[in-house]
Amino acid sequence: MAVGRLVGYRRLSVSTELSTQWWRDAVIYQVYPRSFADADGDGIGDLPGITARLSHLAELGADAVWLSPFYPSPQADAGYDVSDYRDVDPLFGRLSDFDAMVARAHELGLRVIVDLVPNHTSDEHLWFQAALAAGPGSPERDRYVFRDEPNDWGSMFGGSAWSQVEDGQWYLHLFDAKQPDLNWDNPEVRAEFADVLRFWLDRGVDGFRVDVAHGLVKRWEPPSDEVAAPPPAVPDGPEPMWDQEGVHDIYRSWREIVDEYPGERILVAEAWVDPIERMARYVRPDEMHQAFNFAYLLAPWSAGDIREVIGSSIAACREVGAPTTWVLSNHDVVRHPSRFGYADGTLPRNGIAAGDPQPDEALGLRRGRAATVLMLALPGVAYLYQGEELGLPEHTTLPDDARQDPTWARSGHAVAGRDGCRVPVPWTAGGPSYGFGPGERSWLPQPPAWDRYALDGQRGVTGSTYELYREALRVRRAYGLGAGTLAWWEEAGPDVVGFRNGDVLVVANTGAEPVQLPVGARVLLASGELDPQGRVPADTTVWVLA
Ligand code: NOJ
Repeated sequence: MAVGRLVGYRRLSVSTELSTQWWRDAVIYQVYPRSFADADGDGIGDLPGITARLSHLAELGADAVWLSPFYPSPQADAGYDVSDYRDVDPLFGRLSDFDAMVARAHELGLRVIVDLVPNHTSDEHLWFQAALAAGPGSPERDRYVFRDEPNDWGSMFGGSAWSQVEDGQWYLHLFDAKQPDLNWDNPEVRAEFADVLRFWLDRGVDGFRVDVAHGLVKRWEPPSDEVAAPPPAVPDGPEPMWDQEGVHDIYRSWREIVDEYPGERILVAEAWVDPIERMARYVRPDEMHQAFNFAYLLAPWSAGDIREVIGSSIAACREVGAPTTWVLSNHDVVRHPSRFGYADGTLPRNGIAAGDPQPDEALGLRRGRAATVLMLALPGVAYLYQGEELGLPEHTTLPDDARQDPTWARSGHAVAGRDGCRVPVPWTAGGPSYGFGPGERSWLPQPPAWDRYALDGQRGVTGSTYELYREALRVRRAYGLGAGTLAWWEEAGPDVVGFRNGDVLVVANTGAEPVQLPVGARVLLASGELDPQGRVPADTTVWVLA
């Protein structure tokens, strides 16, 4: 297996010179470094732990790994508060561990995408410390957004988006107070990030996932005595802090940088914008390569909604010549089996607490598997989040005193937040921390009875979620589904998402009634068993040749 993939990578890296666009149909696996594998036993995952487990991704059949931040950081937002963009936090290892991880990934045929956090730094970044020391009106303050008066903008984590410093000025932070927003009108900020991109490109990374890509440029009301500028040809997003047209110039300049390097290095937008046509503006030919399709992620488990979002996404991306980028789970949202685990269709948005209505675990897993099998048949790119290949649900009963997401504190404990999807991965059924690390410690407690999700109990077991994912990736590759095209299946009823992708007919049943397959259909893959009449039961997806 490893040898085959290695050869595959060599072939790929040669052919990328000829411009093979690997990123158009790839399957990319997200690693959340704190929670993937802990080599040194301090209870927090690390780069050596990741390196040791990378073969898991290759065996699964992924094409690339995306790592959430591992840079030096006070960890006020689990590393999305970066204090040094060119190093590794000692929690996770050293730069040499990073290099070893990249080398191992490339040896296994996996490309490596790292996270870039350009909207804000940590308040412990040298620049912010210098801004505090230098005082109002200084060039140091101009790298951030300092004002004499705050406005009414709110932080995404709750409360005001402004905090006051000792001399009375206020600084903007769209997230935590420890994440001051940078001023992207300042050329020094632009130059710095161009250099950071090159730093990691030179170290061999294959791309960047760009955090808060829709937030860098803000629209400020002109002073009342100024003549208003004529309205722009393309209107900005309605909210002054999101989706302003100015961000696109930044991505055009970054595209030029990544294109200087061989091997089709990529930029991926994390841009929570709608409608989908605005998301597609981030993936125009001279901008980014991919943008997460959050409209798809947010869709309920209902055929009508899913069909609608698939159709509009493919149309919007086709308009700009970009692939669609499907995703169901990540480190910011309730894991999809738990999201779909409410019989009444409730969709929890920002965590689930012990006192909240609890999802039905079995129903959620069934739908979660069906949703994944549906997603992996769609043309385009697919992102997987660590642990979903084990069927992991959200941890919905975390003790309050274990919660670390700043949302929890900033919302006055009203919003549970994202810790429940960040719990360390169970690798083995027995043993302390389910094999996450050598000891008992794990930075968030793992639920009792997670041994039933552990990898070692699923490997080689027919019907396990792990084997389902592996087989899905194998068949997806064999039939070229990622590079295919979608044609709706005319016979699909209202509760069915049905389409053909090349030779494969995909039937996902979100309703209660079983669905009849065409006569003679040969099943390639099924998320659950068919009924005794060979029909597709509720909450099940099949791929058939018919
Ligand atoms: C999006 C990241 O995915 C999230 O985890 C983080 O809290 C915010 N951006 C702020 O960086």
